Amino acid sequence: MIEGKDLVKKYGSFLAADHLTLTLNMGESIVLLGANGSGKSTLISMLALIMQPTSGEVTVDGLKGKAAKEKIAYAPQDVVLFEELTVTENLYAWSSLKGAENKARAEYLIAELDMTAFQKKRVDRLSGGQRRRVNLAVALMGNYSYILLDEPLAGIDEYGATCIESLLKKEKSRGCGILLTEHNPTILMPLMDRKLKLDGGRFIE
Ligand SMILES: Nc1ncnc2c1ncn2[C@@H]1O[C@H](COP(=O)(O)OP(=O)(O)OP(=O)(O)O)[C@@H](O)[C@H]1O
Ligand SMILES: [Mg+2]
Repeated sequence: MIEGKDLVKKYGSFLAADHLTLTLNMGESIVLLGANGSGKSTLISMLALIMQPTSGEVTVDGLKGKAAKEKIAYAPQDVVLFEELTVTENLYAWSSLKGAENKARAEYLIAELDMTAFQKKRVDRLSGGQRRRVNLAVALMGNYSYILLDEPLAGIDEYGATCIESLLKKEKSRGCGILLTEHNPTILMPLMDRKLKLDGGRFIE
């Protein structure tokens, strides 16, 4: 499980996460809801071990540091990719897999996320929704137990959303824990076991 205990994040004197405690089990799915600025990205990036909390602690299956981080697939809200590489090259560049498994996973994700038509294109020539799919795919090029996605459907069309839904369903049924953020309820809500709502860095639901 991912355990975030008593997490506090201060930006100067501003409190963006106000003593948040959250547990994500394997096979479980949680959605973090909340308005702009409510603290969703702050919390998910601390749980993904990308952002250091001001105080509090995150463990993943009891582990910390690199070993803990390797168990997490994290796709940030802001798309981060190698702009001059193609889609396929990006998948390999971000991957921690090797050999046949690496190739098979790339092919699987290209098919699942409907990226076949643009897989050989440079990323800086893609549309916003296409880039968002690649952003998700690169996060999934590893051997992780937990998937943390910050607004995975932002800019994604209806068909793309159904592709992501179907992919996450399979990941959940093979035992992955899933945590995602959304502004508004989406097509992914029925897949979610728990809904948490943030406001001003605190849970209000
Ligand atoms: N680097 C930073 N320095 C100062 N304040 C920050 C910084 N990053 C975030 N904040 C503030 O912390 C609060 C929470 O931001 P956060 O990005 O976690 O919100 P969010 O819920 O993800 O919002 P959105 O829906 O817009 O993505 C906001 O008030 C924001 O202005
Ligand atoms: Mg955010």
